[in-house]
Amino acid sequence: MEIKAVIGDITQIEADALVVNLFEETKQPDGATAAVDKALDGAVSQLINQGEVKGKPGEVTIIHTLGKLPARIVAVAGLGKREDFNLDKVRRVAGDFSRSLRKLNCHKVATILHGAGTGSIEPQDSAKAITEGSLLGLYNFTRYKKPEYKEIAQMLIIADSTQHSAVSHGIENGKIMAEATATARDMVNEPANQMTPTRMAEIAKEIATKYNLEFKVFDSRDMKPMGMGALLGVASGSSQPPKLITLGYKGNPDSQDTAGFLGKGVTFDSGGISIKPSNGMGEMKDDMAGGATVMAALAAIAQLKLKINVTAIIPAVENLPSGNALKPGDILTAMNGKTIEIISTDAEGRLILADALSYAVKQKLSPLVDLATLTGACRVALGTGYSGLFSNNQQLANEVIKAADKTGEKLWQMPLPEEYKEQNKSVIADIKNTGNRYGGAITAALFLAEFIADTPWVHIDIAGTASSDKESGYIVKGATGTGVRTLAELALLLAKQGGLV
Ligand code: BES
Ligand code: MN
Ligand code: ZN
Repeated sequence: MEIKAVIGDITQIEADALVVNLFEETKQPDGATAAVDKALDGAVSQLINQGEVKGKPGEVTIIHTLGKLPARIVAVAGLGKREDFNLDKVRRVAGDFSRSLRKLNCHKVATILHGAGTGSIEPQDSAKAITEGSLLGLYNFTRYKKPEYKEIAQMLIIADSTQHSAVSHGIENGKIMAEATATARDMVNEPANQMTPTRMAEIAKEIATKYNLEFKVFDSRDMKPMGMGALLGVASGSSQPPKLITLGYKGNPDSQDTAGFLGKGVTFDSGGISIKPSNGMGEMKDDMAGGATVMAALAAIAQLKLKINVTAIIPAVENLPSGNALKPGDILTAMNGKTIEIISTDAEGRLILADALSYAVKQKLSPLVDLATLTGACRVALGTGYSGLFSNNQQLANEVIKAADKTGEKLWQMPLPEEYKEQNKSVIADIKNTGNRYGGAITAALFLAEFIADTPWVHIDIAGTASSDKESGYIVKGATGTGVRTLAELALLLAKQGGLV
């Protein structure tokens, strides 16, 4: 879909559909909605008075203009309560109205700048959010099944002449963010028989070529002398060879500092010998979402040409049972020398991240941010709307939370209590790979903390948020691509400040 800014009078615009909006509890439409209402001889106010149009979030009312306007359809999108309004509502509204209008066979859609009037949102931000929301809301994984509808070909964002360049900028930025998110979604939606560690490495190489990034991949022959016993242990059950993938972006060559973004890349998590119940096991193709996220985030950061250095590290493996598989009771030695007693082979994410984090520390990357579909416990704790954030450095945590506030990708900070470390203690090794029944997301994070030395670090558990079984706003069924936009926004914040200050 092409998205562009146009200067024009909304009542004159030639399109299949024209989108206006309404706050909840509005009795009398104003601004653009009032102009359209007038052209439709009061149809919108009539529907408000009759209680059909309420302006609730997610509401999209279709009014056929029957020749009263050049547009065939007017869509009135609900913005929800004025006091709850924010940029993320604009994204959601855009996702909702875009999908509604696609179903109605609209080829060309024109929309006002939602929130830029009385909603007091900057035109550039509104345009960016509309672009992100519509592209992500219209996202569909079509590789194995053709959709029943035609795509919307064109979206026009109507601006006045003073807003035009800001709106165009917003569209450009929004496109970069949405397309990178779609890249991550595509990777996660791909089944595990396609999205192997080898395929992830190929995609990383394609991204590197396209955006001029430094690409490196280590295979098991390299990992052995590097001492990556934990990663190799997880990989040993599968005939898919493991890969440790790195992508480097150098936007600030004068600086020695490089941030590290790490992502769990388990291309399928059967649990290994500690095998998972078969019901719903197919969902575990999503277990490489963290890896896909950091790869896609680097693509966005490179396109935004941010003045920062970032290296992405993706440990990619498949976790399967076999005659060569890792077993409960086994002891592995991670790259930093720590020995790990295996209690459950299903706690594999923390094992591969142990080596990836040790490697990042050895490369002196700082700060570190890792994303991982790490624990079912995090999903139980926070549900599917919030990712869990853990950190040893409140300043960095605050930056990540600030970035997430901008993107609408919700985070909730969880504690890292010293006392809970007890749970990870092993009689026979330095540490064991699971705690007891309670606080599983926390003990997993505390396990990771054993491998970061004192580097400022944030861990984001995306087990609840990496995929969705519902369609709503700019979220569709399947992979969400969560974290891509937040990492890009974080890089933007760090670049602006010249690092963690
Ligand atoms: N990949 C899973 C976590 C997961 C569960 C992600 C559900 C998304 C949805 C992870 O490798 C895992 O299996 N974790 C175990 C840890 C346990 C063995 C300590 C879990 O959460 O049950
Ligand atoms: Mn597992
Ligand atoms: Zn896993």
